[in-house]
Amino acid sequence: MDLATIREIARQKLSPACKVCPECNGVACAGQVPGMGGVGTGRSFHNNMEALAACRLHMRTVHDVVEPKKNCTILGMDLAIPVIGAAIGGISFNANNVMPEVDYCRTVVEGCKSAGVICMTGDGPVATVFDSGLVACRESGGYAIPIIKPREPEAVIEMANRAAEAGAPAFGMDIDAAYLVNMKRAGQPVFPKTVDQLAKIKRETKIPFIVKGIMSPIDAELCCQAGVDAIVVSNHGGRALDDLPGTAEVLPEIADAVDGRLTILVDGGIRSGGDILKMLALGADAVLVGRPLMVGAAGGGAEGVAFMLNKMAGELEAAMILTGTADVADVDPDVIW
Ligand SMILES: Cc1cc2nc3c(=O)[nH]c(=O)nc-3n(C[C@H](O)[C@H](O)[C@H](O)COP(=O)(O)O)c2cc1C
Repeated sequence: MDLATIREIARQKLSPACKVCPECNGVACAGQVPGMGGVGTGRSFHNNMEALAACRLHMRTVHDVVEPKKNCTILGMDLAIPVIGAAIGGISFNANNVMPEVDYCRTVVEGCKSAGVICMTGDGPVATVFDSGLVACRESGGYAIPIIKPREPEAVIEMANRAAEAGAPAFGMDIDAAYLVNMKRAGQPVFPKTVDQLAKIKRETKIPFIVKGIMSPIDAELCCQAGVDAIVVSNHGGRALDDLPGTAEVLPEIADAVDGRLTILVDGGIRSGGDILKMLALGADAVLVGRPLMVGAAGGGAEGVAFMLNKMAGELEAAMILTGTADVADVDPDVIW
């Protein structure tokens, strides 16, 4: 299996939803939601890419780092590299119906598991989306983290407890989907959440609670107050609101505000091992990768997903050695030039 073949097969299967562009930056798919793009002009997606590209690395080669430590533990989960597959739901209407929802969940979860990491799964206007994640979670022995839309707190609690029963090591809520039109249209209303509602969800669930879609230090502070276990700094891959900054721009001030009180994950435009290292240097504990795993799944199944992750692992190792970084759990901010 090689990258060119995976990409060519993925292009044939995903077109027209995704053109598998040389750089996956949200330009060709701008406005394609439903689809694989970012909402409106697509600038939030594009800003994720620009923000990461604006960070240059600081090369250091006079040191003794030859076998950097790439594995880590996040919320009690052992990861071969500090990467988690991002949730991608709604395969039928977003991804050219490339495969049934349940097969997509099985494929990415299995691919992540074989690369030594874990994968988030999604939620949507039809029950199949969430339930497919639970199937993959159960079948894999708990390698999925189901992410629930910001429904009524009671509904989130009920779904989170189903996730726990399926063996999930954690669950999340993509709070940035608080105005998702297709949920409202399908009679599945979604809402922003108060600190008290977040605290109630945390209190009435049994596994670690991740709030996905935080873009402000104020909201990060409120998540700390609510007692959530982790946040994902994310603009939903540019799909929540137009004209948001790139996640790499807001991550440092969020990390400052959190000051170690909870785990910080981040996503948006992470395409290489160098990008992973940049996000760790900017304050994240681990990252999520979305669209590249869709390309891997469409072009090469579970093996294609693992291929994409192993490629990033190799690039991460190169970036660590060439910046003198010994451990992913201790990345010097000076790694950014
Ligand atoms: C087609 C598509 C569907 C998505 N569905 C979900 C979802 O159901 N739940 C969720 O939390 N995030 C969802 N996301 C957002 C991703 O989890 C992630 O935040 C984003 O894709 C990361 O950016 P990247 O694709 O540039 O890596 C979706 C993204 C895409 C492209």
